[in-house]
Amino acid sequence: MTPGRTSLHGCPGYRRKYVGARGSLTPQLHHRRHAHAAAAAPAWRPSSALDEWVRREARPISLRRLTFFGRTLTEPRLLDSANYCRLELPTRIAHRLRDMQTLPYVVVTNSHIAHVYELYYKAFERFRRLPEIKTLEDNDKFCKTVQETLREHATVIPRLAIGVLEIQGLMKPEETDKFMTTILRSRISRRVIAEQHIALTETFHAPWHFPEAQPLTDTNSDFVGEIFLRCNAKEIVERCANATQELMRITYDSNLPIPEVKIEGHLDATFPYILSHLEYIVGELLRNSIQAVIEQRRYKDAKVPPIEVLICETQQHVIIRISDQGGGIPRDILPHLWSFSKGPRREKRLENLLRVPKLLATTQELQVPGDLGTHQRHGKRTKCNESNQHSSLSPLTGRPPDLRLGIGLPMSRIYAEYWAGSLELHSLEGYGVDAFLQISKLGNKNERLTTRASMDA
Ligand code: COI
Repeated sequence: MTPGRTSLHGCPGYRRKYVGARGSLTPQLHHRRHAHAAAAAPAWRPSSALDEWVRREARPISLRRLTFFGRTLTEPRLLDSANYCRLELPTRIAHRLRDMQTLPYVVVTNSHIAHVYELYYKAFERFRRLPEIKTLEDNDKFCKTVQETLREHATVIPRLAIGVLEIQGLMKPEETDKFMTTILRSRISRRVIAEQHIALTETFHAPWHFPEAQPLTDTNSDFVGEIFLRCNAKEIVERCANATQELMRITYDSNLPIPEVKIEGHLDATFPYILSHLEYIVGELLRNSIQAVIEQRRYKDAKVPPIEVLICETQQHVIIRISDQGGGIPRDILPHLWSFSKGPRREKRLENLLRVPKLLATTQELQVPGDLGTHQRHGKRTKCNESNQHSSLSPLTGRPPDLRLGIGLPMSRIYAEYWAGSLELHSLEGYGVDAFLQISKLGNKNERLTTRASMDA
């Protein structure tokens, strides 16, 4: 066994040292013991590299900073971006590895959570050893490593979703949700950094990057890496509505009436954003609404009421309200709406989720819910709907139509809060649901990494 790589905790003595007589520790006790060990830093501890990286702070970014940085792309800037990414990825992974080390032993031995831990450890070891990126060739190699890692991590979200359901009862639900929120936020952050750098590298190498070769077209200049400078709320809602309606036609009997989506309000509201983040949230909300209306009226002939979307623009925000008449959220579900681990339909969710590994084994490139990436990035540069080759997959995310991880709402809220926005739901029992998505449209807020949002003027 290679110390620090194959052992679950990067430390062969882990079990002996941290596992009590009954085989597990509370996260708190475990953490205290761990903190003590880190302070003493015994020479035998092979995870000292991890300790060193855990001591580094993540350097947060904002959409505005990313945009200014990527707008005038020169070779030194691209190399700066590469080195930021090279240092930031292992720092951010190290923090999550340390979090996982503070979980009770019985939790980290869950096969799905252990798998994620191993993936993260492998990625940490890979990135922390990389030397400074000094040339464009170094950068090309670096981008290949990043892309490979992004692919390797494709199963992380379904594995975590299954893992937290399987460990139910072993941790307090609030602790589990906090752990999930932090790990998912961090994952979004790493993927933003990684994908932004890959996109900047692609832009740098593209022939149209050099004005004398070919002038910038409007479409190209609307993107700075992954950031779409002119996200129009109405267009996004329309695109997500079309994709969701299409998905419902595939999922349900194609003769069932599908509710139309009516959009009103400030139809010109435009702001810079990462398109795939917004499409995930809006797609998820519309899907819930459309599905609720269809299911509620499945065996009735009545005309289906539309989903009403109101877009409202203020100086700092764009608010999108999505209202449906799908009957509201059932009482037994309402208290657990934002939980990853709790809720009355655990068995059903687990059953659905256990189909995921098989699916992932059959198609490497399959996009899994909650996981956004290059698949969509390439699509959006042409047209979202054209990006998908598989007619049985969702036009927006490439997921199979009936595949649900059951974490769409909490995941959407994490995406909304990531760039200083918010997501709230109001259920009117027996009538329908109003979802309020607030987007910070100035892009000047730092990414939200932990439970505390660090603001950036
Ligand atoms: C992730 O997908 O979780 C990552 O951390 C990917 C990144 C290391 C490229």
